[in-house]
Amino acid sequence: MDKSSSSLSVAIVGAGISGLTAAIALRRQGHRVQVFEQFHRPLEIGSISIQRNAYFVIKHLGVSIENLKGVDFTGLIGFGSDNLEGNPQTWKLPEAQKDPGIFCNRKDLADELKRLALEPSYPGEPVNLKIAKVVACDPDQGTLTLFDGEVISADLILGCDGIGSIVRTSILGYNQKALSSGHSCFRAWFEQKQVESRSEFSWITEGISGGRFIFAANEPFRAIFINACDDGKLWNLVAIYTDDNQDNPEWSQSATKEEIVDIYKDFHPNFRKVLELPPGDSYLRWKLLSLPPLPTWTRGRAVILGDSGGATTPYLGQGAAMAMEEGGTLGELFPPGTTVKDIPARLNAFVSLCKPRAEFVSNESVEQGIDPSKRGRYFRSEELQAYILLYDPISAAQKVLSELTGEPTA
Ligand SMILES: Cc1cc2nc3c(=O)[nH]c(=O)nc-3n(C[C@H](O)[C@H](O)[C@H](O)COP(=O)(O)OP(=O)(O)OC[C@H]3O[C@@H](n4cnc5c(N)ncnc54)[C@H](O)[C@@H]3O)c2cc1C
Ligand SMILES: *[C@@H]1O[C@H](CO)[C@@H](O)[C@H](O)[C@H]1NC(C)=O
Repeated sequence: MDKSSSSLSVAIVGAGISGLTAAIALRRQGHRVQVFEQFHRPLEIGSISIQRNAYFVIKHLGVSIENLKGVDFTGLIGFGSDNLEGNPQTWKLPEAQKDPGIFCNRKDLADELKRLALEPSYPGEPVNLKIAKVVACDPDQGTLTLFDGEVISADLILGCDGIGSIVRTSILGYNQKALSSGHSCFRAWFEQKQVESRSEFSWITEGISGGRFIFAANEPFRAIFINACDDGKLWNLVAIYTDDNQDNPEWSQSATKEEIVDIYKDFHPNFRKVLELPPGDSYLRWKLLSLPPLPTWTRGRAVILGDSGGATTPYLGQGAAMAMEEGGTLGELFPPGTTVKDIPARLNAFVSLCKPRAEFVSNESVEQGIDPSKRGRYFRSEELQAYILLYDPISAAQKVLSELTGEPTA
């Protein structure tokens, strides 16, 4: 049998975390993978947590953990904004304490995933990564149209094109806009050198390895989240606030230091001082948006994953983790020998495995942002942690695959 008949052609829109994870997972199963990314350098700023559930996937795919230069995420220290008395909380489950996950620089994760996608010595054929904007998708025909009019046909199309996904629109038949959470955030990073020797920053540098979460003691809702990454050399900061201006056409991504400091002016001086540090790059503002549960994720030969299917707010630190779960799951469901005829059933299995989890996580994350009684609940709830962190996406997918094919799991 020649190569083209024993493997599937896969076209992926977007080289973010979901697109690259899926590309690697399908490449190693012997499929021919092309990825279309609109930007030469996709914007990967800030830090993300890779919690236990996502760890299963990246280890399975052979990601070099060392290259991620992670910092252990053993827990959080929570603070009320009016005092420096911290409340340390570690993971409740022994399994999560043993394998706590890491915080890493998003750029390091993206670079490592890209390395594996392109690496000649990794199993399967190197991924064909092209810089091109996709302007249309036909899920039933299995085609993508590029900005220059070129039409690409593929057996399988993955919409990994983020919150404004055009593949999602083509699957649903309408444009589902992301919903406002009423919150926006500023993001910036600092060098460790700027805080390590200053006693007013001991609440950052002392205590458990993990995040620092400061919640406003007064209305309106605001919070500052800080964590280390890049082998401890960088500190990542996300400052969240209630933003009544989100629908204003003048809403702008740029932000001045004066404006930021003013929003948190009632915070303890030691918390405010961190906002006064000169950031590594300028501060940028982001709307925190989420998608509602969608009627479906798949149609014909196409499926969506990552933020295009389940974008959510960052309160559980699980958005990118879901993207990795979904990329890993998809790879397991398409072993060598999968034929075009198998695609619809495999995509349905993928959606059954992943969509309820993404919707659950998104609902919980949005609820924790809206409802003061639920704030920080992820770290208080053994039940939530068990649902999210004890799940191994790879073995779950292998089990479903063996039910579908009648063959024992690998
Ligand atoms: C403040 C903040 C903090 C976060 N913290 C965490 C955390 O701690 N842990 C965590 O797990 N998650 C976190 N997340 C969520 C996480 O960032 C996202 O869930 C994740 O990046 C989604 O990856 P993706 O690949 O699905 O989408 P994206 O990263 O949005 O990638 C989509 C890619 O598709 C490309 N693209 C789009 N349209 C086209 C087109 N038409 N043609 C070609 N290319 C296209 C884009 O250029 C982009 O590169 C956070 C998010 C925010 C906003
Ligand atoms: C979360 O799910 C519950 C139960 O289904 C629902 O009542 C609630 O509206 C959902 N919250 C959001 C923000 O969608």
